[in-house]
Amino acid sequence: MKYPILFDCDPGIDDAVAFALAAAHSDVLDIRGITSVAGNQTIERVTGNALKLTAFLGMDIPVARGSKAPLLREIIPAGDIHGETGLGNCKLPETDRTVAGEPAPLFLYQKLQELREGEKMVLVPTAPLTNIALLLKTFPDAAEKIDKIVLMGGAITGGNITSTAEFNIWEDPEAAQIVFSSGIPIIMCGLDVTCKCGFNREQIQALLAGGEKAKAFGEMMDFYFHTEVYTDKQRIAIHDAVTFMYLLHPEIFSGQEMNVSVDCSDGVNRGMTICDTRSWSDAPKNALVLTDADSEKFETYLMEAILSHDKK
Ligand code: BDR
Ligand code: CA
Repeated sequence: MKYPILFDCDPGIDDAVAFALAAAHSDVLDIRGITSVAGNQTIERVTGNALKLTAFLGMDIPVARGSKAPLLREIIPAGDIHGETGLGNCKLPETDRTVAGEPAPLFLYQKLQELREGEKMVLVPTAPLTNIALLLKTFPDAAEKIDKIVLMGGAITGGNITSTAEFNIWEDPEAAQIVFSSGIPIIMCGLDVTCKCGFNREQIQALLAGGEKAKAFGEMMDFYFHTEVYTDKQRIAIHDAVTFMYLLHPEIFSGQEMNVSVDCSDGVNRGMTICDTRSWSDAPKNALVLTDADSEKFETYLMEAILSHDKK
C-alpha cells in the first residue's frame, strides 16, 4: 500500500522526528508536499526548519509556507518546550532550498488537483489546523479528494497546555472545529495514545552516540529532558511521529470511533476536544480516536527508522 500524502507541520522537535520516520519509509509514505504553519515557533522559524529537515534527510519534496497566525487569535509559540529555534539544541546545516511560490492552502489544493483519476490524498497534520481549515473553507471541493486526515491533536481526557486542552487544538480551536465537522474521515492521534509512544533516557543516549543523523535527532529530543514537562521523568513522548507510525503499522494501535467536537468558547475549556465515548450515543461518529499502542513496538520501529538514515 502506498499513500499519497500532504504533511502539514510546525517543526518542532517531535515534528522533526516525524520527518525522520517518514523519510525512512518513502516507499510507502509518498509525501507530495509539506506545508508549514505557525505553532511551536513563528512561521519564519518553522518554515526554515522544514526546509533544513528536507535537505538534511534528502527529501526532494516541495515546502510551502503557511499561516502565520491562527484564524482568530495571535500565535503563542511553545519556545519553552521546543527551544528558541524550534529544534532544541540541534543546529541543522543551512540549506539553499526555498519555499514554493504559493501560500499553503493554495499549494495543498493544487497538489490535490494533481492526483490521478481515482487517487485520493491522506493529510497528515501535526500542528494547529489553520492551513487545513483554510483549504476546506476556500476550496470546498477539496474534501472529495481527501481519503482521510491522520492528525496529532486533542485528548479524550486531560491536556498539556491547559488542564483540558492539547496544544495543537488549543492554538486554533476554530480551525480544529472546521476540520472535525468536515465529514472527512479522521484518525485522531491525541494525548491518550501519544503519551504512550516515546523514548527513554537510554534510548536518547544511544542516538547521541550514533552517526551524524542519529546524533542530530538525539540532540533535539534530549532538549525535552531539560524542559519543565519532562525534568523529573524517564520517558519523553514523541507525539507527532504517531501519525506516520499509524499509517505504517496500524496493527500496533487500538481506538474507538466517536463524535469529537471542539470547545471554541472563551472559557477555561477553550481548545478541549469533547469526545463522546458513550457507546449508546447517537451523535454521528466523525473520528477514530486512538487510545492505546504497543509502546515497545513503537520504540523499536522508530529507532530503526532513525538509525537507518546513517546507513544510506
Ligand atoms: C503537539 O504540540 C506540539 O508542541 C508538538 O509538536 C505536538 O504536535 C503535542 O501536544
Ligand atoms: Ca507539532
